[in-house]
Amino acid sequence: MAHRVQFPGPGGTNAVEAALKLARKVTGRHKVLYFQRGFHGMTLGALAVTADPMKRAGAGVPLPDTAPPYDAPAVDEERAVARLTHQLAAATRSGPAAAVVVETVQGEGGVNPARPGWLRALARLTREHGALPVVDDIQMGCGRTGPSFSFEEAAIVPDIVCLSKSIGGYGTPMALTLSRPEYDIWKPGEHNGTFRGYNPAFVTAPAPLSSTGRTRPWKPGRPRWASGFAARSPRPPGGTGCPPRAVAAWYGGCPSTVRARHRPCARRLTGAACWWRRPAP
Ligand SMILES: Cc1ncc(COP(=O)(O)O)c(C=O)c1O
Repeated sequence: MAHRVQFPGPGGTNAVEAALKLARKVTGRHKVLYFQRGFHGMTLGALAVTADPMKRAGAGVPLPDTAPPYDAPAVDEERAVARLTHQLAAATRSGPAAAVVVETVQGEGGVNPARPGWLRALARLTREHGALPVVDDIQMGCGRTGPSFSFEEAAIVPDIVCLSKSIGGYGTPMALTLSRPEYDIWKPGEHNGTFRGYNPAFVTAPAPLSSTGRTRPWKPGRPRWASGFAARSPRPPGGTGCPPRAVAAWYGGCPSTVRARHRPCARRLTGAACWWRRPAP
């Protein structure tokens, strides 16, 4: 995917807010369709596309309500797609939609998986309506259903993708909004904020991406966060004679981590003033 990456702030709801704003900006439309039992976050825009009435009541203001039923295994796929076609047409009769936001497997709504065929039909119908398919992969993305993106099984490429929780898989919060390059029409600073992320999350996030072989292979001298865990050997270099640079590279290039975790090198690295920041020879 050639999608652009935006850091909208560390929470999942931030990724959804950015997605909704961008879809509205791209299409010049207001309405966003979501699905029954869908969950997308607690801030006002994301809450407006979240189905739970109890959560919606917390908004304190009226929220637009356009939620067709989600895919249901009790209905055969052909009928489910026909029903979806009819429902999207009905939902857009009062005004065209900017986006349709969907989870491939509803998480908070009860672990309801949509069939790949239903998702393909949804992406096609959404585009036929001139709207942007948005997949909220916050709960199911990052390999949680198997592939990196949960929609890969359906062989669709959404126009906007929301990712969050811990991208690095280690509890450090981060959110990403991915959009097709032609839709990256933000003006500089149009969707900004003070804290767009949590620094340790920026260090850990590339690791799982690289472990699926999607980033550049590691080369000596390049910090590991630019390449990932996949390229390193399964065990750190051992023994007292290990070169500090190799050990530090194994641990992500951070001397304090090395000091804490790799005793043979600890003494040799003590006092080494951030040499890991220097370019490789
Ligand atoms: C699908 C989905 N979207 C959005 C969110 C909101 O994420 P956050 O709680 O980080 O704001 C969640 C949270 O569970 C979620 O499951």
